[in-house]
Amino acid sequence: MMRWFRFGKKRKDPALPGLSLEENPIRTELHNHLVPGVDDGVGTLDETLTVLRQYEAWGYERVVITPHVMSGYYPNTEADLLEKADEIRRAAEADGLSIQVRVAAEYFLDETLVERAKKGPLLTLGGAFLLVETDFMQRPMDFERNIFELQVRGYQIVLAHPERYAYLHRDPSQYDDLRTRGIRFQVNLFSMVGHYGDAVYHFARRLIKKGDVDFIGSDLHGPRHLPVMEKALTSPLYREAVGKNIQNNRLSWD
Ligand SMILES: [Fe+2]
Repeated sequence: MMRWFRFGKKRKDPALPGLSLEENPIRTELHNHLVPGVDDGVGTLDETLTVLRQYEAWGYERVVITPHVMSGYYPNTEADLLEKADEIRRAAEADGLSIQVRVAAEYFLDETLVERAKKGPLLTLGGAFLLVETDFMQRPMDFERNIFELQVRGYQIVLAHPERYAYLHRDPSQYDDLRTRGIRFQVNLFSMVGHYGDAVYHFARRLIKKGDVDFIGSDLHGPRHLPVMEKALTSPLYREAVGKNIQNNRLSWD
């Protein structure tokens, strides 16, 4: 009897299969490091093109590239990054690709970002959506104040990979607090297949189940990540995530 019961229970809740690559409904990829030589992402334009070719083959129509911008470590300027975007677009076109490319940034959130925002416009994912990241271990100083300072300047904050921050793992109630402050969450594709370990997978799953994911990005740093990206795109958790209210395809494109 027990054996039958267990068997029956298992059958009632089968694991969903992943999507096939052709079924991927997300057409905009919005977090990756595909500007050559400006951060810890790709090193050459050839690598950029290798990735863009694969993205296009997977059905992506638009790519927002998001190099790190961090005072002292990645001192990229908006003007330089926009220039690099033109180079990538020209190379992609010459390569026969039709995928559209924009460059934004993944800004490290600290007081220098607030100062930067006071001086001139920041690069957004589209519309007012500003992608920011923080230290992985330590909760940033003046977290709320810096976010508020950016929000009052009209930016809508998108926190990159909230599932990866150890300081949020230690106190998960902070996820809800960030949501009440109007912060959007961008979860990484690779988290959905355990690429960063079990804890990150757990929190990605939890945010997806709760419907607290607004955007999905790859955070790909080079062609070496394409196999794990393919695995993630065909994973059961990704299927579940894209069934929720994901905003990628609705980003304005100007
Ligand atoms: Fe990133």
